[in-house]
Amino acid sequence: MSVTVEAARAILRGNDRGGYTVPTAGLYPYQWNWDAAFVAMGWITFDEPRAWRELERLLEGQWADGMVPHIIFHGPRSEYFPGPDVWKTRGPVPASGISQPPVLATSLRHCWEKACERALAEDRAAALYPRVLAWHRWWASARDPEGSGLVGCLHPWESGMDNSPAWDPAFARVSPNPTTPIRRSDTGHVGAEMRPSDDFYRRVIALIDLYASLDWEPRALWARTPFKVADLAINAILHRANRDLLALGERFGTAAERAELSARLETTAGAIDRLWSEAAGLYLPRDLILGEPIEAAISAGFLPLWAGVAKAARMRRMAATLERWAAKLRYLVPSTSPEDPRFEPKRYWRGPVWCMMNMMIAEGFRAGGASDLAQRIKADTAALILRAGFHEYFDPLTGAGLGGGQFSWTASVALSWRLIEGAAGA
Ligand code: GLC
Repeated sequence: MSVTVEAARAILRGNDRGGYTVPTAGLYPYQWNWDAAFVAMGWITFDEPRAWRELERLLEGQWADGMVPHIIFHGPRSEYFPGPDVWKTRGPVPASGISQPPVLATSLRHCWEKACERALAEDRAAALYPRVLAWHRWWASARDPEGSGLVGCLHPWESGMDNSPAWDPAFARVSPNPTTPIRRSDTGHVGAEMRPSDDFYRRVIALIDLYASLDWEPRALWARTPFKVADLAINAILHRANRDLLALGERFGTAAERAELSARLETTAGAIDRLWSEAAGLYLPRDLILGEPIEAAISAGFLPLWAGVAKAARMRRMAATLERWAAKLRYLVPSTSPEDPRFEPKRYWRGPVWCMMNMMIAEGFRAGGASDLAQRIKADTAALILRAGFHEYFDPLTGAGLGGGQFSWTASVALSWRLIEGAAGA
């Protein structure tokens, strides 16, 4: 396929189902939470009203307590599993019962700053700001009831990094015997060797069964779950998002809201900082049930750079870690360290490169002053897309495109990060 700006726009248009964009046709036929945030950053480069619509449609799924679900089941029933009949939630529209990394505030700020149609941007951002604030308050209360400064992630899908090896030990505590029968549809779209295992599916569904039996009540989930981890994707992205929300609060919020956000930022910066591992040379997630670090070097471990909380010495140490990984691969950034025996270059979050992770990690290194490494990550991302097309994820050894094709967030990252503008034919 041709890899041009026009082709990237055509992917978003082709995946548009009426104000929301499916990640890819077939495999993911609804609206996903953090996908929508990245996708709006793509739309804003060429269709501003459509970018605002994406964010609004995501928030149609917001619950009364502020939670924004990870999948909003707009649109007709499909063979997608697990669908609304499995989740058994009671929000305003059919949706899943867990959330996803909160990129939304960062996307909102980005769109508001980039927009040329100013009156439209002011109007739409003013209406969205309080709803995003409500979501951030939900994270603080429902997912950090003890006020530690770290929010807990209660389901591997909530982290957005579904089958990351980081979750293996905690996930082993989850029953492999769901009451809901497993009807996988994903492997009808993508080869099983690129997807999570059947055992993984049994446990993710068993966890949903447990939470549905507790009526999705946050305190009950917190008390009863066997899976509770402090994930760096959620925590670093939320910290960054709170900074972006604070910036929006200067325009759209009150002094009390800004004070609340500033206080939260102070607590979360310290808490994220304590996840640093000198031995691993990056940040490590934490098992909140055992109260121990999870010994898994994964790409999310660099995201405190994106959050802006990593000090210069730590950034240099992380740069050295990534350089070591780079010596073992052709393309950065693998989702799991190639030094980890659980590294699998083709299996989803166990090794492949994801473009939106690359964007956040590279921008983090750039902001910290490591511009050469940032440039290397950006060039690798562009090379992968130019070589293989707008895939869901990529093999870090060969550059092969993996998972779904014509993928919305890959096209959006290419547009908003200007990866293909100078490319031949663009
Ligand atoms: C997969 C990814 C998740 C993403 C979703 C839709 O489940 O792991 O991060 O949001 O697909 O693209």
